[in-house]
Amino acid sequence: MLSGKKILLGVTGSIAAYKAVFLIRLLVKAGAEVKVIMTPSAKDFVSPLTFSTLSKNEVLIDLFNETSWANHVILGRWADVMLIAPLSCNTLAKMAGGHCDNLLLAIYLSSTAPVMCVPAMDEDMWSHPSTQLNLNKIKSFGNTIIPVGNGELASGLYGEGRMAEPEQILQHLQDFFLNSKELTGRKILVTAGPTHEAIDPVRFIGNRSSGKMGIAIAEEFSRRGGEVTLILGPSQIEVGKNIHIINVTSAQEMYEACLNNFTGADITVMAAAVADYMPHDFSTKKIKKSEDIFMLELKRTNDILKKLGEQKNKDQIIVGFALETDNEKENALSKLKNKNIDLIVLNSLNDEGAGFGTDTNKVSIFDKHRNELYFDTKSKKLIAKDIVNTIMQHKNV
Ligand code: CTP
Repeated sequence: MLSGKKILLGVTGSIAAYKAVFLIRLLVKAGAEVKVIMTPSAKDFVSPLTFSTLSKNEVLIDLFNETSWANHVILGRWADVMLIAPLSCNTLAKMAGGHCDNLLLAIYLSSTAPVMCVPAMDEDMWSHPSTQLNLNKIKSFGNTIIPVGNGELASGLYGEGRMAEPEQILQHLQDFFLNSKELTGRKILVTAGPTHEAIDPVRFIGNRSSGKMGIAIAEEFSRRGGEVTLILGPSQIEVGKNIHIINVTSAQEMYEACLNNFTGADITVMAAAVADYMPHDFSTKKIKKSEDIFMLELKRTNDILKKLGEQKNKDQIIVGFALETDNEKENALSKLKNKNIDLIVLNSLNDEGAGFGTDTNKVSIFDKHRNELYFDTKSKKLIAKDIVNTIMQHKNV
């Protein structure tokens, strides 16, 4: 979830600085790139060597030495998030007052990245009106405060002021990135639902797709700020707002709508269960029953995904679906290759809780290098998050 995210970790002088050691390990394990800045007094609690070894980056402490000057503006712009953990009472007061007597504060004042703070102090300091005033002040600047815990404090007393645990901080960061509108300005095209191929005015050939999976994917993209166009076959499922819906019935209508909306789409996800065949002739009048055996001639529909794969440019990402009953992996991989797409989501009809109509799904996602990401059975909404996360990590969208 934090893959490729750039975290600038500010460590201030507090007994709780040891928690920053565990925090860096968690962040790096989650795929984040971490750079550490310490206040001079933080060195009294944890050695910079520990932080540089764990983060695999040089630790910066001073604004300048005899020969060089740390470019605080560049560092502040490099970060996706500036995380100050632990935040001491002293640094908090300086942040609230706009002081700038060390590198961490210079970066704080010049950073364009969102700032998250994890305070750590004794209960009496925490509840002092000046601390609370300073907290409210930095909140009014737009900084986020991760709540302190209640428990044993460095003084030996019990109470409020304990620094949040590294796992809790990680969770806050993950939620932050999930809720941030990281897809703002991106155009997303999603198809969902079945198609109905008309035989005559009252009959059609269809399939059991409900549209749930594709709609959940469209909603997840939209929640992350994407500009989503959903091309939707006949479906009873309600779609969230802010999604541009194009209703279609047949594979041919879906084909035309897809071609009309593909140019400019950064990401395309073909979750629709498109009919592979349609009646060769459409009868404008209702067909009356006659012989015991009735032959219906079918012809191939256009393969939409294949067509989009032929047209795609190097910046566009296309994701297809494969619903298989046998030889699942090889069939999915050959679709990925033949249709020239980037990722394929496989669901097997052999798996319980997967496929059409259910509220849950169980999928594997393959890329061009045959790498497989496997996800356990879960709700289609949660699978939609997994699929969108995987797409975002692919090529670092
Ligand atoms: N698809 C499409 N146009 C079609 C048929 C399928 O765009 N006419 C897309 C589906 O939306 C899905 C992917 O192709 O993303 C795989 O569809 P599937 O029916 O499983 O595979 P097919 O290529 O049709 O092959 P087969 O039916 O032989 O399994």
